[in-house]
Amino acid sequence: MKISSRLGAIAPSATMAIEARQRAMKRDGLPVISFGAGEPDFPTPAAIAAAGTAAIAAGHTKYTSVNGVQELREAVAERLRRDQQLQYSPDQVIITNGAKEALFNTFQALLNPGDEVIIPAPYWVSYEAQVLFAGGKPVIVSTTEESGFKLTPDALAAHITPRTRLLMLNSPSNPTGSVYSADELRGLGSVLANSDVGVVSDEIYQRISYNGPSPSFPAAVPDLFDRTILINGASKAYAMTGWRIGFAAGPLNVIKAMNGVQSHSTSNANTIAQYAAIEAFGGRQDEVDKMSAAFKERRDVIVGLLNEIPGVQCPVPDGAFYVFPSVKGALGKTIGGETINSSLELATYLLEKAYVATVPGEAFGSPGYLRLSYACGMAPIREGVARLKSALTTV
Ligand SMILES: Cc1ncc(COP(=O)(O)O)c(C=O)c1O
Repeated sequence: MKISSRLGAIAPSATMAIEARQRAMKRDGLPVISFGAGEPDFPTPAAIAAAGTAAIAAGHTKYTSVNGVQELREAVAERLRRDQQLQYSPDQVIITNGAKEALFNTFQALLNPGDEVIIPAPYWVSYEAQVLFAGGKPVIVSTTEESGFKLTPDALAAHITPRTRLLMLNSPSNPTGSVYSADELRGLGSVLANSDVGVVSDEIYQRISYNGPSPSFPAAVPDLFDRTILINGASKAYAMTGWRIGFAAGPLNVIKAMNGVQSHSTSNANTIAQYAAIEAFGGRQDEVDKMSAAFKERRDVIVGLLNEIPGVQCPVPDGAFYVFPSVKGALGKTIGGETINSSLELATYLLEKAYVATVPGEAFGSPGYLRLSYACGMAPIREGVARLKSALTTV
């Protein structure tokens, strides 16, 4: 059958593709080490898992309202109030199937054909595709290592046109781990002050921040509170990727429109997972802090080891659980008898020959880099980077 032309411009997620390939290799018995998945290796904390089991026993196995159970939306609003001093009513919150669906619903709710969305690169792989799905036009703005891979007010101002509808922000960032300071967010906010451009602030890594809490956009720029859609969820902070719970918080009319989208797509997020998430957002938070401390230790180790490899330069990220080293110094060389000219070729070589899965910068709009997730554990970090070093020094 013929596939729709709408899909023609949209490449499947490169990170998912690498995950699929490395899983297949593992199934074939190959000793693959994966830095590919953006997924904590920790199990879901016991109290949260128990809340899920209790939900089944209590018969919470039916549909919920489209926007999610009231108790969960209250727990989310309360968490945002406590952690970021943000005032949302539970009706300004929609619970979604992962943060991915919160983003999807946002673009569906807000974009008309040709509306432009400014996306700083390197960017998380799905922003561009989701804007295209909604008929919008992604406007990719490259950032540099010198600015810490952060969008500057000047670069933002230079890309605003009469068609600009949204600015996409992601701090802490996937793939770079960069964290915008409150001042940097205010700088971007001031560029938008006299426009009607809205902001989608993806703060899914908000709790994984190593130099104090990562500032939230609507808290740092209260003047734009009514024009900001805040995206977050349970996946990363609570090691709940498989439960599929995310949320958006924002202006009531936008959240209502998102409810409309969801009412015709997935109806509601998984009911059992919603009840587990009440414990995640509303219960004790010490497991989050423990996991975050472990990620910090791993970050220090992986950055140190990567910087020992000739041709690799790895900045120290301030949040999330990714490093984004430059491999430009290793390109154009012959490795294991093959000339490697791009980070995509390098990632392919590393997976096929050294059994190390990384994601090439091409997937994030920034060739010349690799993304490594260090959410995989200390032992795989040491072994995987050792293999990487030996592969890159094999002539
Ligand atoms: C920046 C960013 N936003 C959103 C998501 C999606 O999160 P979820 O698994 O909750 O859909 C991810 C997952 O990798 C991410 O890295």
